[in-house]
Amino acid sequence: MQFFIDTADVEEIRKAHALGLVDGVTTNPSLIKKAGRDHEQTIREISTFVEGPISVETLSETAEGMLEEAKTYVTWGQNIVIKVVMTPEGMKAVRALSSQGIKTNVTLIFTPMQALVAAKAGATYVSPFVGRLDDIGQSGMGIISDIRQIFDTYQLSTEILVASVRNPVHMLDAALIGADVATVPPATLVQLFKHPLTDSGIQTFLKDAQAWNRKQPA
Ligand code: E4P
Repeated sequence: MQFFIDTADVEEIRKAHALGLVDGVTTNPSLIKKAGRDHEQTIREISTFVEGPISVETLSETAEGMLEEAKTYVTWGQNIVIKVVMTPEGMKAVRALSSQGIKTNVTLIFTPMQALVAAKAGATYVSPFVGRLDDIGQSGMGIISDIRQIFDTYQLSTEILVASVRNPVHMLDAALIGADVATVPPATLVQLFKHPLTDSGIQTFLKDAQAWNRKQPA
C-alpha cells in the first residue's frame, strides 16, 4: 500500500519525506487554508522534493472551468494530479483529462457506486472518505471493501485512495482490504511508529546497557 501524506504543510511533508514515507501528497482547499500560504507557491515548493503524485483540487462547478484550472495546475510541478469532485460535471472533466493523459483523483466519494462511476469516467484514483462516514455512524471501511471487490471483479485499473483517515486502525484496515493508497495526516503517521511496549522496552534496554557498561574493564 502506498502512503500519501494528507496535508499542505510543507514542513510536515518534509519531515515525513525524510522518513521515506511520502509516496505522494493530497491537498484540498481546507488544507491549503489551514497551511495559510499561497496555493501556487505551496504546490510548487512541494513539487521540488516530492517525486510522487501531488493532488491539487479544482474549485469550478463546471467541466469547462475545471479543465481551465487543470491547464494551470499541471504547470506547477512534474507530477500533478487533478482532483475533481464527484459530480456529473466533474466526471465530464475527468473523461476529458483522462483522454489527454492527465491523471485525476475523484474526491468526496461516499458510496461504491460513485467509485464505479468515477472509474468508468477514467479516474486514476478514487478517494472514499472513511472518517467522514464513520462520523455519521456509517461504515467507512465497508465501502472500501465493496469498492475493492467491484474493481477486482471488473479488473478496473483505477486506484483506491483511502481518504479522511483519522487513526492507525483506518490504516491497518485499508492495508488488510488491499487499498492501493491511504492518505494519512501527519499526526496519524507519527502514531504508526508508536507502541507503549516499544517505549518501555527501549527504556529497559538502555538501563541494562548502563549497568553492563559499568562492569567493563577500565
Ligand atoms: C484527501 O484527499 C481528503 O481531502 C482528506 O483526507 C479529507 O479529510 P477530512 O475528512 O479529515 O477533512
